[in-house]
Amino acid sequence: MKILLAEQELQAGVRRLAAQIRQQYGEQPLTLVAVMTGSVVLLADLMRLLDMPLRIGVIGASSYRGGTTAGELQVASEMLIDIRDRDVLLVDDIFDTGRTLERLVAHIGGLGARSVRTAVLLHKQRETEVTLRPDFVAFEIPDEFVVGYGLDYRDHYRNLPFLGVLEPQDLERDSPAVLSARSEPGDG
Ligand code: IMP
Ligand code: MG
Repeated sequence: MKILLAEQELQAGVRRLAAQIRQQYGEQPLTLVAVMTGSVVLLADLMRLLDMPLRIGVIGASSYRGGTTAGELQVASEMLIDIRDRDVLLVDDIFDTGRTLERLVAHIGGLGARSVRTAVLLHKQRETEVTLRPDFVAFEIPDEFVVGYGLDYRDHYRNLPFLGVLEPQDLERDSPAVLSARSEPGDG
């Protein structure tokens, strides 16, 4: 597996993201709504860098059904806290086609949030399928399938502390590859 972003780079990116969010909201109360499961690592790191009065909710959305191509999007909001009249920041791991966040922004708006913005760790550089753009982005990345720091391939690799690119042989195998990096960043 090739490393795209090392642990320290990810940390620096999350700090930049927190600073952007702090600049937007100041000391105003904020409700983070994390899109499960991919944003779980980002949520844990990001929430500890924010110092305004903060509430945390989670929402489920899944479109990737056992692979790298998108299926029909399913939203699960049974575990969501009350967001009526709240300023909500949706937090997700990656903005790929944008369909997930576009749908969730509408969903949260429909539940009566006062405002809805979006923050993502990663923004894939590709043609988007929606007009929505994320409000806060830590990294622009090439259009490759990435795993680690919460992102999965068939529910594996979320625990990698770095962001890696899966190679064709990793995508073909039935069981996950051993969780180690092929090379350090900069090694080519
Ligand atoms: P979108 O709706 O196409 O923007 O896709 C967003 C969701 O797809 C994310 O929340 C991820 O769960 C998943 N996803 C998109 N690209 C990748 C990737 O490269 N690796 C792992 N998951 C991805
Ligand atoms: Mg996801």
